[in-house]
Amino acid sequence: MTVRILGTGSCLPETVVTNDFLSGIMDTSDEWIASRTGIRERHLVKEETTAQMAAEAAKRALEDAGAEASDIDLIIVGTITSDHVTPSAACEVQDIIGAENAIAFDISGACSGFMFSLHTAYAYMQAGMSKKALVLGAESLSRIMDWNDRSTCVLFGDGAGAVVLGADATGLLAFDQGTDGARGKVLTCPGRLNNNPLVQQGLQQGYVQMDGQEVYKFAVSTVPASIQKVLKKANVRTEDIKYFLLHQANIRIIQSVAKRLKVSEDKFPLALDHCGNMSAASVPVLLDEVNKKGMLKRGDKVILAGFGAGLSWGTALLEW
Ligand code: COA
Repeated sequence: MTVRILGTGSCLPETVVTNDFLSGIMDTSDEWIASRTGIRERHLVKEETTAQMAAEAAKRALEDAGAEASDIDLIIVGTITSDHVTPSAACEVQDIIGAENAIAFDISGACSGFMFSLHTAYAYMQAGMSKKALVLGAESLSRIMDWNDRSTCVLFGDGAGAVVLGADATGLLAFDQGTDGARGKVLTCPGRLNNNPLVQQGLQQGYVQMDGQEVYKFAVSTVPASIQKVLKKANVRTEDIKYFLLHQANIRIIQSVAKRLKVSEDKFPLALDHCGNMSAASVPVLLDEVNKKGMLKRGDKVILAGFGAGLSWGTALLEW
């Protein structure tokens, strides 16, 4: 017995922001952004919150799975942009969708957050601690962007994706995941400073800072190696994979991974052109788009891979 994805859902904020719009408010261009990243537009929150988007994605995933909120006994949200320090986004999702039988918590794994959440839910289920789980990636990344730093703010977008997991004879077949905290400084976002009667360092506004070239080098070496490890664990050949659904950071990273694996780029569906990099939400939103377009049939083998800040990475092989 393993764990299978029974349904998917996603939710993007209503407002679309194009590269041309950004060129009107900062020194950039559609040509610069699209040629280096593949991104043409992204959705940004106005009234929406991380928890609202996550809850909507969860409802759509439950509908797709033919499951009820009351069936769910575990909710995990991968996010670095929950609306509050506490309660977690997962607790808010539980309340909004009425999953009163679930325990709920967030995982802070940045762009690997959905993959870490998926693996954790899998472990709960294999240990007999959960029968039906909701796993999400949800981000309002635009909150933590420095909108005066054109080298980062143009890359990211907001959104949420969800999957429902249940026990089945096939499904998630193998995982690989890792972290390299020693290289963490290449992609950071500061949190709160010490603030108590002994020391007052004041309130600090924390924004994402990135050494883009170092992140690029990390991704193009680590991701293909992680995919190969997972394939080896499951004794599955690269050519048996129908789709490689990678974290949507940058088209050049995806092209390089395809080249290193000697796989056609056609097997790497994209959402980054219209979503940008949504951190933990990238993989589940892409999976939902691929599923809802009817591109998957039972028995197809699919790779999911997330990677980014931490540094961290997580890869899974599944049979649909
Ligand atoms: N518009 C126009 N020019 C820009 C710009 C923008 N939005 N952002 C940066 N530039 C400029 C820089 O100021 C620099 O100008 P200079 O040469 O006059 O100093 C020039 O473009 C090159 O900048 P650089 O940072 O060297 O660009 P790059 O070729 O490395 O591309 C990234 C930048 C971010 C696209 C690239 O490094 C990358 O994709 N890295 C991976 C990042 C990633 O995916 N992170 C998320 C992982 S989860």
